[in-house]
Order: sequence, then structure tokens, then C-alpha cells
Amino acid sequence: MGVGDKEGRRDETAELARRRGFIWSAFEVYGGAAGFYDYGPLGTLLKRRIEEKWRDFYRREGFYEIETTTIAPREIFESSGHLESFTDPAVRCKECKSIFRVDENLTVAVKCPECGGGLEASGEFHLMFQTRIGAGKDKGKGGSDEEAIKRSEGYLRPETAQGIFINFQRLLKFNRDKLPFGILQIGKAYRNEISPRQSLIRLREFTLAEVEVFVDPAADKNNHPRFEEVEDRMLSLVVPGADEAEEKSVEDAVSSGIIANEYLGYHIARVDEFLECIGLPRARLQFRQHQQDEMAHYAIDCWDAEFLSERYRWMEIVGIADRGDYDLSAHARSPNVNMHVHTESGEIIPHVIEPSYGIDRIIYALLESAFYEEQIGKEKRRVLRFKREIAPIQVAVFPLLNRDELKSKAVAVFRMLRDAAIAVEYDNSGSIGKRYRRQDEIGTPHCVTIDYETLEDNTVTVRERDTMNQVRVAVPELKDVLE
Ligand code: GLY
Repeated sequence: MGVGDKEGRRDETAELARRRGFIWSAFEVYGGAAGFYDYGPLGTLLKRRIEEKWRDFYRREGFYEIETTTIAPREIFESSGHLESFTDPAVRCKECKSIFRVDENLTVAVKCPECGGGLEASGEFHLMFQTRIGAGKDKGKGGSDEEAIKRSEGYLRPETAQGIFINFQRLLKFNRDKLPFGILQIGKAYRNEISPRQSLIRLREFTLAEVEVFVDPAADKNNHPRFEEVEDRMLSLVVPGADEAEEKSVEDAVSSGIIANEYLGYHIARVDEFLECIGLPRARLQFRQHQQDEMAHYAIDCWDAEFLSERYRWMEIVGIADRGDYDLSAHARSPNVNMHVHTESGEIIPHVIEPSYGIDRIIYALLESAFYEEQIGKEKRRVLRFKREIAPIQVAVFPLLNRDELKSKAVAVFRMLRDAAIAVEYDNSGSIGKRYRRQDEIGTPHCVTIDYETLEDNTVTVRERDTMNQVRVAVPELKDVLE
């Protein structure tokens, strides 16, 4: 497939991501399993950088991070409503018996994607992974064997949020009994997707980065203290029933009631800002409001930040929900659970505003939008145009030739940069052109070359990835120039 051909471009991005150690199908040597991916060395570096940027971004809101368990007993999800409502409708092939998730492209009216057979409705499929906690014979609490077994039922969390909600009283105390406050959590979540066939887009094990902001609905929802910092930000908004996005300022969208309240508007704007700051092109981002029948069981208003993918069209990468008091009230119905807060307006159950980021989908979007290819003479130059802050390797250092005097100086420069906490790689194999191409395709923004001039005047060549321009920089200034 030719350069510029979309299908070809997609294949090349996936091939590059595999070959250079970004992402691999999990369990590859055993034939793989749908919906599971592993991150290789460069993918892991990229992921950590995004996670660190995200932490930093929300720490600036004054929010704290916690880490809760990934397995929880049945009663947590009974209370949260997931046990009853966390399902997807499924269809089954009458011939080969394969089961598929129903979506806009796949209903009983179409044929089986595997064998072409007819499809029939197959009910609701539960998306949580079940496990057992302990031996399942905890009879100490009395009751029948069946009840003891039920008590030992556990589930892998389908979202990190519940771990935050059930610790609400402790978190409130930590915050000296004051609202509003926000809590972050990054971690694995699990959904037993029916038929995942879309790379990092639909995974059975994935990373969520979630923020739960607890607010007093009367005092806070329409009074965010920093709203003016974001009110002029223009957003691309798609409301139910509209064919395309409309550009509106956050202030306009809130005052006209399109976005339900200032707090939600504030956080939608911050999501937009974060996605821009990690390098996603704004022209490929929009916010789409959920239809009433599309919303999760806990939400009263919900917007998806969507990225325009060449392969998957508009795909959700972040969900921003007003969860109301759904979760805290749901847990408060259990005996011994108190979710009330004393405020000036009396005793209330706080509302929750939640931006929830799908980190793997964001990585997919970054890889797809950063990939660029050009023909240089007879050669193809492939580049991942990552922003410097998220590039897995920030600088590569090369000796121009494989000679001892150049190598020892190059190693000294490499160590100097490494000691300055710059992610740096040393490479002395192959021609200089090959070394540049190797770094271009993993997105390294700068290459530093040590040559004979270096030995004379202590300057090096710094080459920039996108323009391929080269400048000479004195070694003592190198760190500052690169930063
Ligand atoms: N916590 C958001 C979600 O589960 O999608």
C-alpha cells in the first residue's frame, strides 16, 4: 500500500508500534487473547509520561491521589448498581455460535462477521469479571453453604471510582470536613468485553485515570472559584440530535444551559486543555453530550471527549460525568455507611463531578496522530511527532564515527545529560543517517552528534526531529538548550 493511503498508514503505525516496542498483543507466544495488550519499553515510558503529566495537571487543582484495591467484594457492586446494570446487549450467530456486542454497526439485521450466518438476540451480557475471595467456605458468619459462597464472591473493578466513593468519610476527614475536594486515582480496571477486536480501543484490562470531585450542589455547582480562567475557552460541542459540532465558549455553553453547570463546564474545559497539552490536535477533538438512553446508570449529565481517528471515526477518550449524589446515596443505603456532610445549608449528600480518562485510548490517539511519513530521495522517513514532554526518549547522543576519541566524549555527554534527568539514549551502531531514522520513528525530538570539531571547541551538533535543522551548541550550554 502506497504512502498517503490511509489503510497503509494505519498498518504502518501499528507495525512501528509493535516493532519498536510500544505495544504488543499479550500472550503472543501462546497465540494471543483478544482484548489484552502489553506495553513494551518505549510504550511504558510513553504511558508513564502521560500519567505523570496527568497527575501534575490535577495536583495543580489541589487534588490528592489515592490507591485502592482492584478487587472488591460483591456487596460493593451490589450497592453501586454495577451488578444489576453493568451489561451490554449481545447477539449470537445461529451458525457458528459466536457472540457479539450490539452496536450501531452490528444488530440482528446484519450477518455474522465471522461466518456470514444469521444473528439472533442473546440477551444482556455482564461485563464484570468475577472471582472468589478466599476458599468460599466462610461459615463463621452463619447461614447456608450457598450464602457463604455468595459472601466470598468478588469482582475485578470496572472503574476506579468506587474505591474512592467507599472511602468518602475518611477522605472528608482528611479534608477537614470541608467541601469541595477532589481525589485522583490511576489504575487498572477490567471489563469482560464481548468481542473486542479494536486494538487499544476496547480492552478487557485497561488503565483509567479518574478524578472524583465532591461538591455541595447548592453552594458549589454554579460557583467554581476558578471558572474565569476557562470561561473564554472555545469548545467543539455536539448535542443530541445535532449532525455536527458547534463552536462555543465554555461560558456560553454554561449560561445557555447546554452544559448543566459551571463545575461541569470547568472540568470539560480542563480536559480539553490537558488533551491539547499532551499534543492531541484540537481539530480532531470534540465533546459530545450523551443521549438520555445512552448514559451510564449513575450519570445525570455526561459528555465524551472524542478523538477523530482515521480508523474508528469519533471515539471516546475521556468521559466527563455529573454523577449527582447517585453513588454516595447508593452506598449510604447499606447499614453502617454514612455519606452525609454537615454544611451551612444543613446535612447533605455531596454530588460528584467526574472526568474519567481512558489512558490506553489516549495512547492510541497519540500514536495515530503523531505518525508521519515522507519520502526523502529513495528512502522513507517515518516520524512520531510527539511533544518533547511526552516523548519516551528526549535526546539521543551519537559519536559521528566509531573512533575511541569520539566515543569517549560522546559517552561523557550522554552521562552528563542522563545525570540531569533527561531521558537519553546512546547509539553508535550503523551510519549516522540510520541512527537519525531510528530516533525519528520513536519520536526523539533531538539528536546530539559528537564530531572532530567537538574535540577542538567543545561544541556539538543538535539536530531537531521535525525540521531536521542542525545547530552547533557549546557542551556547557547543552542541557539548558535542550530543556
Ligand atoms: N468511571 C467512569 C466509567 O466507568 O466509565
